[in-house]
Amino acid sequence: MNIRLELVSTEGPLPTSTYDAYDGDVKIGMAQLRHKEAGNPTLPENMRSHVYYEVEPAYQGKGYGTKILELIKNEAKLLGMHELFLTAFDTNIGSNKIIQKNGGEYLWDYINPEGKRLLKYKISL
Ligand SMILES: CC(C)(COP(=O)(O)OP(=O)(O)OC[C@H]1O[C@@H](n2cnc3c(N)ncnc32)[C@H](O)[C@@H]1OP(=O)(O)O)[C@@H](O)C(=O)NCCC(=O)NCCS
Repeated sequence: MNIRLELVSTEGPLPTSTYDAYDGDVKIGMAQLRHKEAGNPTLPENMRSHVYYEVEPAYQGKGYGTKILELIKNEAKLLGMHELFLTAFDTNIGSNKIIQKNGGEYLWDYINPEGKRLLKYKISL
């Protein structure tokens, strides 16, 4: 595995750095690093997050997601950030594991109006 992030854009009001993730020449996913916590406006303020990532379905379950978050931590450090806040629904086992393997410390959770449980984590950089 030879994963790297390629900056695609820093557009947006927050701003947000958007990356494509490659293994060699193959695009296997993407990630977004918001320089300030943000999220769906229907969420409470304490459930905002800095990071979103996804791995193409064909490449899931091979460790790419874990590595992408590791690389995002490096990018955040380069931006002068000292901590990252992340969220994941309890049903998203892969995402919860990725965050925990990258040093995520569980903070609190929130049950949304549909009854789904969203967990909030902090990663110190
Ligand atoms: C969540 C997601 C990024 C995981 O990416 P991935 O490359 O498959 O993750 P990894 O291979 O690094 O897996 C990390 C761990 O989660 C486990 N895992 C991954 N997907 C899983 C699944 N669907 N069910 C159960 N466990 C899963 C892996 O087995 C691994 O476990 P281990 O640490 O015990 O070995 C990917 O499924 C995805 O893009 N989902 C859609 C978008 C999304 O939900 N993004 C996260 C927003 S919070």
